[in-house]
Amino acid sequence: MQKVAIITGGSSGIGRSLVLKYASEGYAVAFTGRNGARMQQVEEELGERPYLALHLDAADQEDNEKMVAETIEKFGRIDVLVCNAGISMRALFEDLDLEVFKKLMDINFYGAIYATKAALPHILKTKGSIIAISSINGWRSTPARSAYSSSKFAMQGFFEALRTEVMTRGVHVLVVCPGFTSSNIRNTALTADGKAQGESPRDEKKMMTSEEVAERTFVAAQKRKRDLILTFEGKMAVFLNKLIPSRLDKMIYKMMKKEPDNPLK
Ligand SMILES: NC(=O)c1ccc[n+]([C@@H]2O[C@H](COP(=O)([O-])OP(=O)(O)OC[C@H]3O[C@@H](n4cnc5c(N)ncnc54)[C@H](OP(=O)(O)O)[C@@H]3O)[C@@H](O)[C@H]2O)c1
Repeated sequence: MQKVAIITGGSSGIGRSLVLKYASEGYAVAFTGRNGARMQQVEEELGERPYLALHLDAADQEDNEKMVAETIEKFGRIDVLVCNAGISMRALFEDLDLEVFKKLMDINFYGAIYATKAALPHILKTKGSIIAISSINGWRSTPARSAYSSSKFAMQGFFEALRTEVMTRGVHVLVVCPGFTSSNIRNTALTADGKAQGESPRDEKKMMTSEEVAERTFVAAQKRKRDLILTFEGKMAVFLNKLIPSRLDKMIYKMMKKEPDNPLK
């Protein structure tokens, strides 16, 4: 029986790489996104492989129910759900329109909740995996990313509880925390008034590739690991945050202050 993976936000970056990785490993893949041109490109890359491209909004509960219903209708089962869809932001909290804060929570956090709620009954049947794409920001917040960090901390709290609810019933929950990864996320990141910032303030070429994140996520899921923390810098941030949190406050401030056009004072 062919296994089936759902990947939310599969039109770009880490999600796109996960779609291609799961498809290359023989899974039928269902993926969501809103950008027609990017969705089309992924469809072309998948070619003859079995897939379902769903133009749906991760922040909408009914869209998530539709995602699961259509996947079941087409493929009959769900073995893996990857809650990946996400956006970022860059602004001081004091300047931030609270609608932007809400939007981040709606997509990054509630999006994962709605997808998991709809898919869980099917994953309980297959004793499959639920994979949350969080961030190093789910362990350690950074300035000018208050809404983003909050959404990732919330995600990790939820998936930690869920893991212990389903662990005696054969369902596996993996939380993946990528460090800086080259993708579209810093181009679409929202500024204080909700406009996309357009240009990445960081050198994307120096970052981990989305293909490497997808590869390592797939392997960690096969081994039914609990956590995957990526990049040397990311591992150091998590470690130092436990050891010397107030020193890390200053180190992180200095690091973020070096970003061009940063809003820090
Ligand atoms: N890149 C990094 O440095 C990094 C680091 C840590 C964690 N992450 C996490 O990795 C995940 C993927 O991000 P990425 O870096 O690959 O960014 P990306 O290239 O911008 O991709 C984001 C994906 O999410 C989708 N998406 C966003 N809002 C959506 C919505 N409302 N409904 C449906 N799909 C939506 C986008 O699809 P459409 O545009 O087609 O809607 C796109 O496919 C995110 O959860 C992010 O927080 C990234």
